[in-house]
Amino acid sequence: MKIQIAGTGRFLPEKVLTNADLEKLVATSNQWIIERTGIHERRIAAEGVCASDLATPAARQALEAAGMKPEEVELIVVGTSTPDMNFPSTACFVQSKLGAVKAVAFDVLAACSGFIYGVSIANNFIKSGQCKNALVIGAEVYSSIINWEDRTTCVLFGDGAGAVVLKAGEGESGILSTHIFSDGSKSADLYTPGGGSVNRFTPDLVSEKKYALCMKGNSTFKVAVKSMADAARVALEQNGLTGADIKIVIPHQANLRIVSAVAKQLGLDESLFYINLDRYGNTAAASIPIALDEVVRNGRAGKGDLALMVTFGGGFTWGSVLVRL
Ligand code: UT7
Repeated sequence: MKIQIAGTGRFLPEKVLTNADLEKLVATSNQWIIERTGIHERRIAAEGVCASDLATPAARQALEAAGMKPEEVELIVVGTSTPDMNFPSTACFVQSKLGAVKAVAFDVLAACSGFIYGVSIANNFIKSGQCKNALVIGAEVYSSIINWEDRTTCVLFGDGAGAVVLKAGEGESGILSTHIFSDGSKSADLYTPGGGSVNRFTPDLVSEKKYALCMKGNSTFKVAVKSMADAARVALEQNGLTGADIKIVIPHQANLRIVSAVAKQLGLDESLFYINLDRYGNTAAASIPIALDEVVRNGRAGKGDLALMVTFGGGFTWGSVLVRL
């Protein structure tokens, strides 16, 4: 028995925020953003649109591709660090919006790695017989935790959602391995200080913008490159494979220079790596499932091909999923 990706989906908000738009907000330039990140534009959710609003249509599309009805779903895992609310979980809101009445629903908080963590968890739930299928979603509204006066972060992120349906099946296709890792000693390099029990909600929290994401970009960059390369290596080694066996690498879409450096560390051609960060920026936990859905739908990889997904995010958290599509 293999745990297979039975369907994929994505949903991006319509509104496009270009580098030229950001030039009007902060002291930045189209040239700097493109040279240092590779990002040209990103999508921004309209006022009042929350993570479950993006997750639900992505999930519907994945269910349709899998030929499944919402009532058949047994587990919903949402990877998000911009949930609708602190609680209930965004997964519960998605369950309700879909009408997935039978599903157990919960969120995973692993920042940009939330989707890969979710796949790892759902894979184990299905393998152990606790459920027959799972909807794993990455959904983010990072525009809600951005300090729009901070040029070092506001140019990087975007909003969106991606989803997969996992279920047990026969044949060659399926998840070959999942590896997830954490290092809490680096939590202060990438975090949102406010809104939890450390910096409680006060008027100061808002005026000091403590709800907003903070990142030490340079040190995060270095750890991201090493961690993503390590996570890719362990997946290949455990499966007795080399880069030559892989049809496509789907990396977390944080920065084109990170992807180039990971490719170099692994001795792989950059053309093996799927890139959409030019159009969407960094959509955190949504970045890999959005890219995976594009890959499946645009035919860049298809049934029988090996796809290696590699992530890195706040925590720090990182990991990989190797799958035969
Ligand atoms: O998804 C989770 C994981 N996220 C990541 O892994 C992101 C990792 N970090 C990065 O992608 C990069 O570090 C950044 C894109 C955030 C920054 O690029 P960098 O090449 O590391 O730039 P830097 O932070 O070293 O800054 C270089 C210069 C600074 O000016 P000075 O001090 O040299 O005068 C910055 O103030 O660039 C300046 N700068 C900008 N200039 C124009 C920073 N942001 C901007 C900007 N526009 N938006």
